[in-house]
Formats: sequence, C-alpha cells, structure tokens
Amino acid sequence: MRSMVAKSDGLKSVGERLQLYRAPHPHAVATFADDVRSGLTAKRKYLPPKYLYDDLGSALFAAICELPEYYLTRSETEILQRYAGEVLQTLGGPIELVELGSGSARKTRLVIEEALRRQERLTYHPIDISPGALLASANSLVADYDRLDVMAYASDYFEILATSRLRTTERVLVLFLGSNIGNYEPEPARALLRAVATALRPGDGLLLGADLKKARRTLELAYDDPTGVTAAFNRNLLGRINRELDGYFDLRAFSHVAHYDESRGSVDSFLEAAYPHEVAIGALDLVVPFAAGERIHTESSHKFSSADIGRIAADSGFRVASGWRDEAQRFGASLLIVN
Ligand code: TRP
Repeated sequence: MRSMVAKSDGLKSVGERLQLYRAPHPHAVATFADDVRSGLTAKRKYLPPKYLYDDLGSALFAAICELPEYYLTRSETEILQRYAGEVLQTLGGPIELVELGSGSARKTRLVIEEALRRQERLTYHPIDISPGALLASANSLVADYDRLDVMAYASDYFEILATSRLRTTERVLVLFLGSNIGNYEPEPARALLRAVATALRPGDGLLLGADLKKARRTLELAYDDPTGVTAAFNRNLLGRINRELDGYFDLRAFSHVAHYDESRGSVDSFLEAAYPHEVAIGALDLVVPFAAGERIHTESSHKFSSADIGRIAADSGFRVASGWRDEAQRFGASLLIVN
C-alpha cells in the first residue's frame, strides 16, 4: 500500500480520454489491519476475500482464468461473444457502461466493441479494488479504442455506488461478471444489488454473470487446480499480511482447501494449518495461534440456478429481461432491468 499513496483524493486526468479516481488510502490500510485483526481473532478464523486482489493477487487471478479447470471465464467469454449484440438490443441505447470488478477487462472488450458498432462514442466507468490492474486495463483500452472515454475508480464498489460519484447521462448498462456476485453471502449480495439499483434509473440494466450449480467434481477442480495456481492465489493473502502488516506467516505451513457445500450451493476456500504453531503480526501487536488442521476461511463462491437469479433480482428492485447460457450450460448471464 505504501507505494500507492494518492496524489490527491479527487479526480486525476491520466490522459486525454482517461480519468482516475482513487479512494483515499490511509483509510484502506487501517481497514486492512482492522479486518485482519477481527478475522484472525475470531473463533472460526476468516479473511475478507477483497484483500486477495492486491497487484500480485490480481496477476495470479488472471492466471487462474487461463487454467483448463477454471471454465468460468471461458464460458462467460463464449456467452459475450455470441450474445453481446442481443444484450444491447434488449436494453436499447445509446448506453454508458459501468463495471464492478473490471480486473483485466478482457471480456469487457466484447461489449465495448458491440456498443461502438451501434454508437459514435462510449464512456466506460470501471470500478476495481486493485489500482494496478485498473490503470493497466484502462490505459490499454483508450489506446485500442479511439472513440472510448474511461472514467476509472480505484475503490470498493459500495463507496462509489453509495456516494453518487458515478455521473452518467445516457442509459446505463452495469456489468457484474465472473460470478463475482457469488463471492457474497445471500444477504450482502442483495444489499449490493439494491445499491446498484438505487444508483441507476428505471430502464437501466445490469448484466449479471453467474456460475451455475453443477457436479461437485467439476466445481472443486475449478477451485483447486493441479497446477497450484489457485493455491498460490489464496496463500498470497498471507504473503500480503507479511508484506503490509509485518507478519511472520510461513506460507508453506498452510495448504489450500476447496470444498463444495451443496446445502448452501457454495464452494468454500480455506487455508489450512499443517501443524500447530503461532504467527506474529508486528503491525497488530498480535500473536495468532493455529491448531493442526485449523482453517482460515478466505472465500465462498456461491453457485446459482435460474430460480436463484430470479429471486435475487426481484428482491433487489430488478426484473429479469432475458438470460443466456454457454453451449455446455455451465454458466449464465442475465440481463436485469431496474423497475
Ligand atoms: N470470483 C472468483 C470465483 O469465485 C474468485 C476465485 C476463483 C477464488 N478461484 C478462487 C477465490 C479461489 C478464492 C479462492 O470464482
């Protein structure tokens, strides 16, 4: 975090067609420390998943998307390649694009290209917690599309949605892809979609990518690949505590575990201590004891049926206008419209 001190906490022009907003940072460091303390002193230890995505974590996640076992990205790409036109046709335009958790924005290009086929100019508002990934993708987008303007927000989604920082004039299409919604427990997921609906106008749309419920072996392989990239992605969270909070985790003392809990429809990821030991975290003045086999819960990835999507949409101020699946029926994208 130290290397990312914001020059100001307002808007910054990075180029003629690129503006960047950075959430004020002293805050974020304090929040990371507080969240690590709460999570590691809880009876059942946990760490909030948004901290997986520092610059190294974002790079490891991009590698996960290339894994043969992690079908989610490819299935969703297939849907956007085939149906982005239908999505825009259904919504009507001209539009402005907003994206929650844009990452490398590779899939977004399919929607951007389709929109630029239909309208002269397009404004894209990506929101991402990782400033490195955000700036890199925003820069390459303005370089590649000369009729595109980018207004990027390095921030937590809620902060942008709840503060009316988002300024749009055209009909809005929000992209929330990659089954990101599945990383929230049901109630926070509804709260987030409600915040999206509130930030939009009636008739605006949300394209929601959601991984579908399926066989345990397929799901567990997607979250525990034999190459070990997902394990590295998960362990990096402990590395980040070492780097930013003067922690003493031995990353080799923890193994990555992924388990599909069918009753909750969720693949849960953990870091499991191999043997009993204690870990000091300097910046927190804290020593954390681990028993053999004790786990830190790091993320849940909920899986959905069409009925699940219909329910969550209705509960948060949307109606489902249409839905699309990949050929293998592994993944779904639904266009929700604000009531
Ligand atoms: N949003 C991704 C998902 O739920 C994140 C992810 C992929 C992930 N693999 C992971 C998070 C493994 C923790 C552990 O699919």
